[in-house]
Parts: sequence; structure tokens; C-alpha cells
Amino acid sequence: MTRASALFPSGVVVVEADPAFVEGRLHPEEEASVAAAVERRRREFRAGRTLARDALALLGVAPVALPVGERREPVWPDGVVGSITHTRGYCAVAAARTGGAVAGLGLDVEPDEPLKEALLDRIALPAERDRLARHGEPTRLGRALFCAKEALYKAQFPGTRRFLGFEDVEVDLDLATGRFTARTLGPASDVDLSRLVGRVRVADGYVLAGAVIGSD
Ligand SMILES: CC(C)(COP(=O)(O)OP(=O)(O)OC[C@H]1O[C@@H](n2cnc3c(N)ncnc32)[C@H](O)[C@@H]1OP(=O)(O)O)[C@@H](O)C(=O)NCCC(=O)NCCS
Repeated sequence: MTRASALFPSGVVVVEADPAFVEGRLHPEEEASVAAAVERRRREFRAGRTLARDALALLGVAPVALPVGERREPVWPDGVVGSITHTRGYCAVAAARTGGAVAGLGLDVEPDEPLKEALLDRIALPAERDRLARHGEPTRLGRALFCAKEALYKAQFPGTRRFLGFEDVEVDLDLATGRFTARTLGPASDVDLSRLVGRVRVADGYVLAGAVIGSD
């Protein structure tokens, strides 16, 4: 498959699959949170939870329920951090035990399609737009920026409980290495992203971003 594992250091387990081929049952409390959803959403949610339990098994953790938190975040068992993503034809989960080098994890996958100009305007700060423009294909590269911002949002949220808008974070994406770092701006400046390191890659028609918050 697409190998989201290439986005993360050792110690992080990654499981990925086409949601159409993922067989698994939801725990009753998980089932309740998608009871009113359309079938496509139920399928992607089931795939995410099933792969998350596969990831827990790889970490040697029992296959517990992962409820939906107040801000839609998956609630991982104590001692585990993780992240879930899904898009057309693809679902992936990254997870790690805490207590080692990893304090937070974010994973995001998007189809490898150019962003609409209007969306690029919404998610990219002027400095970020300028950097993308220097590389010639701002709307195509904008997808990687979008993906990086969503991955880092997911990585930081369980630790900070803070919503960050696209204008609150400036991402420095090195297109040669695929690495990115980020800093918060304005009212969000107190959220510390100095220990965050991310990677983006393009594979099999998808853009993938992984963000790791290192431990102190
Ligand atoms: C949460 C968000 C990032 C999800 O990204 P997406 O591309 O829409 O969808 P994905 O399939 O990649 O990810 C969805 C999964 O993200 C996870 N997720 C949702 N909210 C989350 C949160 N607050 N924290 C961590 N993970 C979260 C869930 O596991 C969800 O899947 P599930 O509902 O099946 O459990 C996006 O919807 C959002 O709210 N973005 C606004 C905030 C943001 O991105 N800011 C960027 C600046 S830092």
C-alpha cells in the first residue's frame, strides 16, 4: 500500500488499508456515535476503529473501544497516542506508546489533487504562499501544506485541547526533504510547537503527512 509508515520514526506503528476491505465490528459506544451517519461515513469510521485496534495489538495493548472525544478526537487508552485518517480508497492509523520519544502523533492523507485557489487562500498565510510560488506549482504544493497543517493539528490537540485555525500556524515545509516544522502565531502563540517535526510524501495518488511531537 501507500506506506504511511515512511512518515514516522521507529516505535510508531502504522496500519493502512482500503476501507472497502476492512472487516471489523464496532464497540457499542462507538456504534452509537455513527448511528445516524450515512453508510459511507459508517464504513470509514469502522475501518478507522478496526485498524486502530490492529495498531493497538501491534503495541501489545488490549483491543479496547476508542470513543469519540468532545472535539471529535479519538480517545486512545492510557499510555498510547495515535491518529486516524481516511479518504477515498484509503484509511490509515499511526500509534505509539507514550513514555518514549513520542508525545503526540498526527496523520493526514488527501488525494493528490491541486487545491482550489480559494481554498489555498484560506489555508495558506502570505509567507507560505510565497514559498510555494517560488517552487512553481502553488495549488499542487498547497495540498501538501494543507495536509501538513491537518496532521499537526491532530498531533497537538490531545495534549493542548486547543483548536488551531489555519491562520494560527505557520508551516515551514522543506520540499526537497519533505520535512516540516511549525510555529504558532498571534493569540495561539502560547501553543508550543517547537518539538514538532513532520514529514510529507506523495505516493500512489495520495499526499500523506505525519507529525510527531517529541517528548521533553
Ligand atoms: C479534524 C480534521 C483535521 C480532520 O481532517 P480531515 O482531513 O477532515 O479528515 P481525516 O479523515 O484525515 O481525519 C478524520 C479523523 O481525524 C480525527 N480527529 C478528528 N478531530 C480530531 C481532533 N480534534 N484531534 C485529533 N484527531 C481528530 C478522527 O479520528 C477522525 O476520524 P474518525 O471521526 O473516523 O475518528 C479537520 O476536520 C479539522 O477540523 N480541521 C480544522 C483544524 C485544522 O486542521 N487546523 C489546521 C491548522 S493547525
